[in-house]
Amino acid sequence: MVRVGLVGVGRGGMIAQWAGNRNVSFAAVCDTAFADADVEKAALERLAKGGAPFAVAYRDFSRFLEHDLDLVLIASPPPCHAAQSIAALHAGKDVICEVPSVMSIAEGRELVAAVRASGRRYFFAENCCYWGFVRAWRQMILAGDVGTPYYLEGEYVHDIRYLMRHNGEATWRASFNPLRYCTHETGPLFDLLDDRGVRVVAVNTPSLVSPEFPAPDAGTALITTSKGAVVKTLACFKNALHGSYHRYLLFATNGTLETKTTEAVTHASLPRIPHLQGEVKLPLGTALAGGHAGGGHGGADLAMLNDFLDAILHDRPSPIDVYRGLDYSLPGVCATLSAEQGGMPVDIPDPRLF
Ligand SMILES: NC(=O)c1ccc[n+]([C@@H]2O[C@H](COP(=O)([O-])OP(=O)(O)OC[C@H]3O[C@@H](n4cnc5c(N)ncnc54)[C@H](O)[C@@H]3O)[C@@H](O)[C@H]2O)c1
Repeated sequence: MVRVGLVGVGRGGMIAQWAGNRNVSFAAVCDTAFADADVEKAALERLAKGGAPFAVAYRDFSRFLEHDLDLVLIASPPPCHAAQSIAALHAGKDVICEVPSVMSIAEGRELVAAVRASGRRYFFAENCCYWGFVRAWRQMILAGDVGTPYYLEGEYVHDIRYLMRHNGEATWRASFNPLRYCTHETGPLFDLLDDRGVRVVAVNTPSLVSPEFPAPDAGTALITTSKGAVVKTLACFKNALHGSYHRYLLFATNGTLETKTTEAVTHASLPRIPHLQGEVKLPLGTALAGGHAGGGHGGADLAMLNDFLDAILHDRPSPIDVYRGLDYSLPGVCATLSAEQGGMPVDIPDPRLF
């Protein structure tokens, strides 16, 4: 039985997807907003209704860490991620951390040191790596059907201005550089490439859409990987588009793979494969064994959580460990540094050498 603790009851509510899982007990939850008893009561009721009846609630993180816990899901705002992950690791807990993992290279070094010193597992919660089409594209690449990828694009566009203010006050999202939120692109794309970024140039737009929120409207980065591929990312969190989309594009020596912004299918154009002459459509969604399309993000959230839980239960290494989590997150840190210097190239360190 894995005794689970949760930090941050917003996105952290995804933990309720483990409802009914007999390998999990919902031990304790922590949120600074529990300083307001009504907020705590409402959050506990919401979690219980979703299937995660937490036994104990804390507003103080240090006291929460004294609770008997095996695993902590950290779903607080990004500036808290590194410090809380490090403290939880040192307190002897395994950690699942939301995206991004760190806000600076220095935090990355400290996080790696904590994983090594504690001997605990660190799981980086990049759910987009678990979309079925990402796995299918990877299989096609491994089978040699696609050839060598050389240019890729990843875009995440989501008008989340409604999340930039809460109870009349600006939230962390109002001033968060979108370049930092790159892991929904770098995660799947670096997995497809089996590679990591080594250098980035990036720029931000000004804040023109709702300028009361100081964060740039968008950020775009060009990342060179160690194998020489080029990855272009776009993150845009203030625009007039309704809804949201993720888009991925992969050019390779034998063909093209692409998702569209408006269709729940991916397109493959691989002329050298006889049965894929021209363009074919592949279903988007979760295609992992035992997976289903229910739950958050088309089933990817549950597929990810279950993969992490399996690793704990069967004492296997983390499927997305601290190094891979930093491979996905550090391009955002370095892209922000690049944009602050007018688009100067910035080297992305290899966290294995920290
Ligand atoms: N992977 C995904 O698809 C995905 C989707 C949404 C959000 N996220 C990530 O999840 C995290 C949380 O996002 P959100 O939308 O729930 O944010 P949010 O700001 O709505 O909620 C964060 C929660 O953490 C609490 N909190 C703030 N500081 C805290 C602290 N020091 N200790 C404990 N609790 C604290 C807040 O009171 C709030 O309840 C972010 O890191 C975000 O990047 C990931």
